[in-house]
Amino acid sequence: MSTYKIAVIAGDGIGKEVVPAAIACLDRIAEVHSLDLEFTYFDWGSEYYLQHGRMMPVDGLEQLAAHHAIFLGAVGSPEVSDAESLWGLLIPIRREFQQYINLRPVKTLDGVTSPLAAKDPIDLLIVRENNEGEYSEVGGRMYRGLPHESAVQETIFTRLGVTRVTRYAAGLAASRRGHLTSATKSNGIVHTMPFWDEVVEETARLYPEVSLTSELVDALAAHLVLRPWTFDVIVASNLFGDILSDLGSSVTGSIGLAPSANLNPEGDFPSLFEPVHGSAPDIAGKGLANPVGQIWSGAMMLEHLGHPEAADHLQAAFESALREGFGTRDVGGTSSTAEFTAAVLSAIDALA
Ligand code: NAI
Ligand code: MG
Repeated sequence: MSTYKIAVIAGDGIGKEVVPAAIACLDRIAEVHSLDLEFTYFDWGSEYYLQHGRMMPVDGLEQLAAHHAIFLGAVGSPEVSDAESLWGLLIPIRREFQQYINLRPVKTLDGVTSPLAAKDPIDLLIVRENNEGEYSEVGGRMYRGLPHESAVQETIFTRLGVTRVTRYAAGLAASRRGHLTSATKSNGIVHTMPFWDEVVEETARLYPEVSLTSELVDALAAHLVLRPWTFDVIVASNLFGDILSDLGSSVTGSIGLAPSANLNPEGDFPSLFEPVHGSAPDIAGKGLANPVGQIWSGAMMLEHLGHPEAADHLQAAFESALREGFGTRDVGGTSSTAEFTAAVLSAIDALA
């Protein structure tokens, strides 16, 4: 039996509802596939911050490093500034563990109605650069409180950073339909984005079976609404990739469906699996949260750990629950989080 140590951080808001739902599904899958998933729970997040003045302990990263993977809900609370919650936990994990790929699949699911009138199935991958770009620590604030108060934040692109994310995205495109789209803005952002374009082009050229299209991100956003089914793999910077993935998941039906993997492809550090959505304080504690994004992230974790059959089984189970008409309010259904989870558990048994 394979044993995996998984660090679980449910975090805040609906993270505390969708993580237990997904763990119940993972436990059932582990039984069927003879996997030993050993979950260790960390109560880090905004409540921890309010008690200790930090989102996680000083040695938090060391504690996490001893695991095969990290399973995260969401962090963020109205009582803690978002910059504090993001930079105190998620961003240090992504950076220190060199999780430079943020992989976000966007796919039409049977039983979920897209808000778009056109109905061609959508199946695309967003590969977001996850370590640098617009999310940079370089910058500062001056003259606080004075009329000439100012703020500067520099975007940092490195050849290493752009090359490795493009290589990963082009490799995925080569294994799929062979189309790679790069999100750019080199008409307006005249230093960093032309550099991004050059390095993406140079790198993609090494994959002759992949066709590369560079699209200005504003037009690309429009195309994601008008004809999302024409995209295969999209490679984007940290900020552009973040915005496009909320858009992408919404055109398939709901942000509550969208999963993501923060990958350290070399396996030097644990990778982290989390839904795209945040802590949704507006619906937290009401049993309304859609657990699909979290469960699907669990399936991506199983795949990453080298168990594609277990991953496919879990994926088929939540897809089957949706197809049977179960669904939370955000996808037009009436199921509570618990009712939907129960339907996935039955589907896991039925498909075993
Ligand atoms: P959000 O994703 O939490 O919510 C946006 C909207 O989508 C809300 O109306 C919410 O009810 C709905 N929604 C989100 N997930 C859902 C689900 N699973 N089922 C049903 N409906 C769902 O984004 P928002 O409101 O901008 O941020 C809330 C907090 O979450 C903030 O503190 C923010 O910083 C944090 N956040 C954390 C992230 C993370 O931990 N990775 C990512 C995004 C936001
Ligand atoms: Mg986001």
